[in-house]
Amino acid sequence: MSESILVGQLSEIIRVGGRKRLTVRGRDIFIIARGSELFALDSFCYHAGGPLHMGDIEEMPGYTCVVCPWHRYKITLRSGEGLYHSIDPHNLSKPPVLCSKGVKQRTHLVTLEGDDVYVTLSTGDPAHTKLESDQYNSPAS
Ligand code: FES
Repeated sequence: MSESILVGQLSEIIRVGGRKRLTVRGRDIFIIARGSELFALDSFCYHAGGPLHMGDIEEMPGYTCVVCPWHRYKITLRSGEGLYHSIDPHNLSKPPVLCSKGVKQRTHLVTLEGDDVYVTLSTGDPAHTKLESDQYNSPAS
């Protein structure tokens, strides 16, 4: 069953730059504050375990992404989708098209009560499906 866990205060997260890495139930995650929203994702990149929690934020049409420092993969903060630009190799004058690889990085629910920040791990849902980021962020078994 999913459980909401107190992980800190919003004022503290803002004070340290709007980002916090932590371990919840043995899972390595990070929280990002963007405007009035909070997001939580697995800390290590689904691609090869890079330090996604240290990635820059990049705005793309319709998406806010975190960019992995290792190979520059772009992952949406809201859904954990991997994004890429597709080109037509037969017509290089066509502009690249933004495409999704689907959900690759696990995200978690973040809620706020006053200044208190709570995380609900998406792995707490018995119906959750395995994602590629699980291999780098799950508790050791
Ligand atoms: Fe993140 Fe390769 S490890 S893009």
